[in-house]
Amino acid sequence: MSGLLIKGALIYGEGEPVDVFVTDGEIRQIGTDLGIVDAEIIEANGQILLPGFVDLHTHLREPGREDTETIETGSAAAALGGYTAVFAMANTNPVADSVVVTDHVWRRGQEVGLVDVFPVGAVTVGLEGKQLAEMGTMAAGAGAVRMFSDDGHCVYDPLIMRRALEYANSLGVLIAQHAEEPRLTKGAVAHEGPNAARLGLAGWPRAAEESIVARDALLARDANARVHICHASTAGTVELVKWAKSQGISITAEVTPHHLLLDDSRLETYDAVNKVNPPLREASDAQALRRALAEGVIDCVATDHAPHAEQDKCCEFSAARPGMLGLETALSIVVETMVRPGLLDWRGVAKVMSENPARIVGLDDHGRPLEVGEPANLTLVDPDATWTVRATELASISNNTPFEAMTFPAKVTATVLRGRVTAREGRAVGTRAEV
Ligand code: NCD
Ligand code: ZN
Repeated sequence: MSGLLIKGALIYGEGEPVDVFVTDGEIRQIGTDLGIVDAEIIEANGQILLPGFVDLHTHLREPGREDTETIETGSAAAALGGYTAVFAMANTNPVADSVVVTDHVWRRGQEVGLVDVFPVGAVTVGLEGKQLAEMGTMAAGAGAVRMFSDDGHCVYDPLIMRRALEYANSLGVLIAQHAEEPRLTKGAVAHEGPNAARLGLAGWPRAAEESIVARDALLARDANARVHICHASTAGTVELVKWAKSQGISITAEVTPHHLLLDDSRLETYDAVNKVNPPLREASDAQALRRALAEGVIDCVATDHAPHAEQDKCCEFSAARPGMLGLETALSIVVETMVRPGLLDWRGVAKVMSENPARIVGLDDHGRPLEVGEPANLTLVDPDATWTVRATELASISNNTPFEAMTFPAKVTATVLRGRVTAREGRAVGTRAEV
């Protein structure tokens, strides 16, 4: 068989169903009665065709914690979630602060072949915030690192951050900041507010995030550099990003599905599956984040997929590691929080999950328009499906989803990477690795 024929898809959920013929990694024909006889066929039956999703914030845990996720299992989770590109954060062990690690991540991702795994390089050596890592070498390596972040840690020293922005500017790469003033979050495990106070949990104030967002916007302005804000979690961050954009500062921001859907009322049970960094905030913050995503103040959705072992989650709240699974539930939560309430249409979903993240990191073969001649990185979504999350059925090795037993709308039914089907009907399918 040569090529792939997706029959009867609604492109961006618009117009009448059409057939899409893909071969040699590209979209070759779009129309009806294409006369293709020799191709693998996907019957879309009116499902929605979108560009493959791009995740700017994924933790794959390889190297170092392969007991919780590997590049292979994380790639499977990504493909099942509709992703064709993910950015693997640098807080591995060893840290991705050298070209040895970033090249390994890139090569292993290509070997698995389910999704393009782009390595994120550390901003500072060992994520320690003291000395800049060799960003130039990583950018020039096989992994061609285009995004740098100490995520998990904040680049808290303003002088180091300023130098990082200047250096990134000269290299044409992006700095993504985990905005958390560490002096305000010592020992903090939950959003600082009435709920944490009542439950006796040490509070992580909004100002810890917002003060860094404000500072970094100003540093980016002066360095004439771009800065990206990881996992925006507060209404105040939304206001600051809006202000910075109004000043012409090159700032972009992401929001996670869990910050769009959940709030700190979930802490009641002391179940550490709800512990995440930044913490789940209040319902009013979630509302502000949804509005900001709809209005384009927040540019994109990023999962912050953060797998953790059972022993690191099923323990006392304060001792548990922060982080939640996200890759396989992201689209459904975006549909639940944004599409269902009328805040985004499907073209909007394509923007925030594919086009905008690809643009932020300057990818030219992901997040492209669904047109003839474009790379065939595609996601097919059944908007009428409903499904119930079962951690044990997810492809991730870890089980730390806060959405266990919740029922959501919409399901990714197929994902296509450069013309090759990588996920179909709930199974990851690779020519190079069967997962
Ligand atoms: C992330 C992790 O586990 O690596 N945890 C989290 O709570 N988000 C780190 C991070 O994204 O800050
Ligand atoms: Zn982070």
